[in-house]
Amino acid sequence: MSFTKEINRRRTFGIISHPDAGKTTLTEKLLLFGGAIQEAGAVKSNKIKKGATSDFMEIERQRGISVATSVLAFEYNGYKINILDTPGHKDFAEDTFRTLTAVDSVIVVVDVAKGVEEQTEKLVEVCRMRNIPMIVFINKLDREGKDAFDLLDEIEQKLKLNVIPLSFPIGMGYDFKGIYNIWEKNINLFSGDSRKNIEETVEISDLQSDELDTLIGSKSANTLREELELVDGIYPTFDKQSYLDGHTQPVFFGSALNNFGVRELLDCFVEIAPKPRPKQSEERLVQPDEKAFTGFVFKIHANMDPNHRDRLAFVKIVSGKFERNTPYLHVRHGKKLKFSSPNAFFAEKKEIVDVSYPGDIVGLHDTGNFKIGDTLTEGEIINYKGIPSFSPEHFRYINNADPLKSKQLFKGIDQLMDEGVAQLFTLELNGRKVIGTVGALQYEVIQYRLEHEYGAKCTYENLNVYKACWVDAKDPKSESFKDFMAVKQRYLATDKQGQLVFLADSQFSLQMTQQKYPDITFHFTSEFR
Ligand code: G4P
Repeated sequence: MSFTKEINRRRTFGIISHPDAGKTTLTEKLLLFGGAIQEAGAVKSNKIKKGATSDFMEIERQRGISVATSVLAFEYNGYKINILDTPGHKDFAEDTFRTLTAVDSVIVVVDVAKGVEEQTEKLVEVCRMRNIPMIVFINKLDREGKDAFDLLDEIEQKLKLNVIPLSFPIGMGYDFKGIYNIWEKNINLFSGDSRKNIEETVEISDLQSDELDTLIGSKSANTLREELELVDGIYPTFDKQSYLDGHTQPVFFGSALNNFGVRELLDCFVEIAPKPRPKQSEERLVQPDEKAFTGFVFKIHANMDPNHRDRLAFVKIVSGKFERNTPYLHVRHGKKLKFSSPNAFFAEKKEIVDVSYPGDIVGLHDTGNFKIGDTLTEGEIINYKGIPSFSPEHFRYINNADPLKSKQLFKGIDQLMDEGVAQLFTLELNGRKVIGTVGALQYEVIQYRLEHEYGAKCTYENLNVYKACWVDAKDPKSESFKDFMAVKQRYLATDKQGQLVFLADSQFSLQMTQQKYPDITFHFTSEFR
């Protein structure tokens, strides 16, 4: 198959949702359609989150929370589909944000009864800012939920999206009869048998025909006709380009658990979802069909095999072919590296692969060379942008609890931060180290891993910080900036990249500082240039 064909048939996406909306269930059903797993429940019983193959750290298994982001790939109708799984737990939101830099589109799962929830709002906002094409899947139609139009309104308002329903439910909960597929112009009748993987689909070319009344009863048929007329009147006609540009978002209804409406979603998805997209680097825009290989690290997994202390760096291929045993330039280090056993991911297993194409993810064994955001090329100096750090929510001093193991402790902290487990700040005043995290859970993860992987012990001490703000001074030589540096010295730190950060202890103090130093901008994310 030609290089271009390989690129065009790839669909790399992420599924995002609030926990419990049905992301895992939907992933499982998609894998079923791809023939990547044989029975319903295969993924579920391992529960991608709790599985042995797709989450690698013992601690994850213990906690049953998906700390890790895994890759699930499968073939469907000639398409190569790569799903990048994202942890739903809010303490690991930063992980999800980083994964979103490696997807070409997303599917947003919304629970029909709960509607738009907090975590969905945050994740969709990130996608919206990056103009990532989104498809919405409204799940659990077999249960009583919100009225379809109300829910579409809620999605438009809370998620600030412009939705276009491409399917529409007929009834809901006990009265759920099926789904009219606006995209394919047919009806899927719901039998409510979750073990049945084959749905009964009936072509309906004329909505006014009596056939519709026979299929779902006159009352439902009339309601459907009215509702579809409303849909027609309210929502614009679907336009693929507008979806690809991130301006409109098609919506599908279904029930992942019952495998209902999932095939329709997948069939439409492969047709409209983007092939691997160009990516902006600091130097230039890189097109997927360029001959030379480039890619970037968006995720690092540690200690997959307890017998070998190695890590797996997940690289998204942006352009060219990635080939095994070929030397590639690690741009930040300025040195060439060769990979003898790059991993590709298929459903739930990983295998060594000789060639990978744009859109694919390869896992590279790493002994500490990589950190998140690193770029690999065939020689060109390119630095991919867009792996931001956000202000953590929690801050604690980290202390060494075993003076004989300080070397191990610092190495451990250094590597865990490279993996993006948390953020490290070093205070200007006294060089003390502060760990910032999105959730309190990460402190336990860090403590556990330092002990089990590095043989080091740590303790924490609370530090009262409201937000970490990256400092952006108009004129770093100005008197006002010098004054700021002197007056606020106690609150200043550097992040791991050496960027200056102001650790504001309250919203009030941040406001006062902003007022006093109008020439300095305080950013809640490291990505502001
Ligand atoms: P998540 O990954 O987004 O966190 O959600 P997950 O798929 O684990 O689904 C959360 C719960 O919702 C599960 O029930 C799952 O079976 C259920 N669910 C998913 N899709 C549907 C649907 O279409 N209809 C209905 N009625 N339920 C659905 P659970 O009891 O928490 O877990 P389990 O015991 O079934 O594993």
